[in-house]
Amino acid sequence: NGKRTFVMIKPDGVERGLVGEIVSRFERRGFKLAEARMMRISRETAEEHYAQHKGKPFFGELVDYITSGPVFAMILEGEGAVQLARAMIGATNPANAAPGTIRGDYARSVEANVIHGSDSDESAEREIRRFFGPQA
Ligand code: CMP
Repeated sequence: NGKRTFVMIKPDGVERGLVGEIVSRFERRGFKLAEARMMRISRETAEEHYAQHKGKPFFGELVDYITSGPVFAMILEGEGAVQLARAMIGATNPANAAPGTIRGDYARSVEANVIHGSDSDESAEREIRRFFGPQA
């Protein structure tokens, strides 16, 4: 189990003023906020980040949405970071996300689902490099 993960509050979460609330949840659970930055994602980076969904009918909308406003990107450190952050985030589709999870409490649709968390240690390292650069 890795010690860090990449988490990003998506444009709907930033727009709705949920950054403080979400950061608090991770801090209260014992994560260390190692890096954090408000940023705009370029279309190029968005297409790379969502490459596994290329060709799916929602790909264009997904890229439009994630580039529609600033996101709040974070590196969270802690034992079993990837797994624990995903458990706190909840299921992709808010219809399946348990109450008490971030998506279960805040997400309104499968697309505008408030937050992203890396799905493996390998993805976490790749996404940290992508969003924070090779030295992070
Ligand atoms: P995430 O897991 O962060 O990254 C892939 C995203 O694709 C996922 O969140 C959803 O927001 C989005 N997604 C998955 N399935 C659909 C769908 N059927 N329609 C629209 N967006 C989707």
